[in-house]
Amino acid sequence: MKDMPQMKTQAKNILIRDIRPDERDAVLGLRQDTLYSEDYLPAVLDTWLADPDVRIRVAVDEAGEVVGVHAFRKLEDGQCWLSGLRVRVDARRQGVATLILEDAIELARSEGIRTLRYATATDNEAVHQLSRTQRLRSRGAWLSFERRVEPSDCQQDGPGAIRPEGINVLGAADAPRILSLLKTGARTLYVESYAWRSLDERSFARLASEGRAFGCAGETGGWGIALLGRTGDDELEATLHGTDMLCAQSLIGFLRRTACETNPRQLLTLHVPQENPAASILGSLVRQGELRHVAGRPHRVWELAL
Ligand SMILES: CC(C)(COP(=O)(O)OP(=O)(O)OC[C@H]1O[C@@H](n2cnc3c(N)ncnc32)[C@H](O)[C@@H]1OP(=O)(O)O)[C@@H](O)C(=O)NCCC(=O)NCCS
Repeated sequence: MKDMPQMKTQAKNILIRDIRPDERDAVLGLRQDTLYSEDYLPAVLDTWLADPDVRIRVAVDEAGEVVGVHAFRKLEDGQCWLSGLRVRVDARRQGVATLILEDAIELARSEGIRTLRYATATDNEAVHQLSRTQRLRSRGAWLSFERRVEPSDCQQDGPGAIRPEGINVLGAADAPRILSLLKTGARTLYVESYAWRSLDERSFARLASEGRAFGCAGETGGWGIALLGRTGDDELEATLHGTDMLCAQSLIGFLRRTACETNPRQLLTLHVPQENPAASILGSLVRQGELRHVAGRPHRVWELAL
């Protein structure tokens, strides 16, 4: 008997509903044994609780105990983003996460949402299995890096300013050209506040009109773009796409300088598809101690069209 694989028993009498105010600590108690050495849930839970666009859904068992949680965030343009999925260790492999995701899909449908997404570490087999069962499609593996910029990032010719030249501010008129380049690589996503969103004509026009889209044309026909996500005094977030190594270097240097010029202690966060040339540059900056690889591993973005 001991060699038999663990059998899954369907979760029984589990209710998925909005969190109640007195369940905050129970939710924080679920967070042991996550894949991440540093679980982000404690840092964000109170912000989520106060955010009218976020619904925290909990899975409650027959005894009324919280055994699972996740956050459902409504985004612009009919999109939503799921995060913070956790199931209590002793309640795992009984279908609780499956019920949570099914509930999120229903919730999304009832709110007229057309695209649901989330990300998980590429080695989180349970979530990949769950995603395949619910017929989500992969939007690729992504890497996220961060750096607390320093005054040296502001220097034109310091190590932080790797070829920051040749960068153009993109306008709404660039949308058709940029989107046709992106579609070739099937990466029509960008990230804002750690939520992956559609990069389509509408969102590109918005980013361009707000001065948040930058491009670079390479000598040999390659290209690179950077799209700003969350921007503020303390943080600058950007997504990098492209094919050209030198453009990627230019954009990274440009972003470091921009972050530094805004605030010499700003947190710069960069998101990049794993196969993008920028990923290897960022990887080497990690080896040099210039950047931190957030979560230490790639994450896969999953998407469901409703
Ligand atoms: C990932 C997690 C939420 C899954 O919760 P769960 O309630 O155990 O998941 P389910 O029982 O609904 O199982 C979902 C699918 O994954 C499979 N699965 C579950 N745990 C697995 C594991 N450790 N390895 C491989 N597959 C696994 C199940 O068999 C099921 O597939 P099936 O429907 O084809 O049988 C839970 O393990 C957890 O909280 N982990 C720590 C936090 C974390 O990683 N969160 C996700 C961040 S994106």
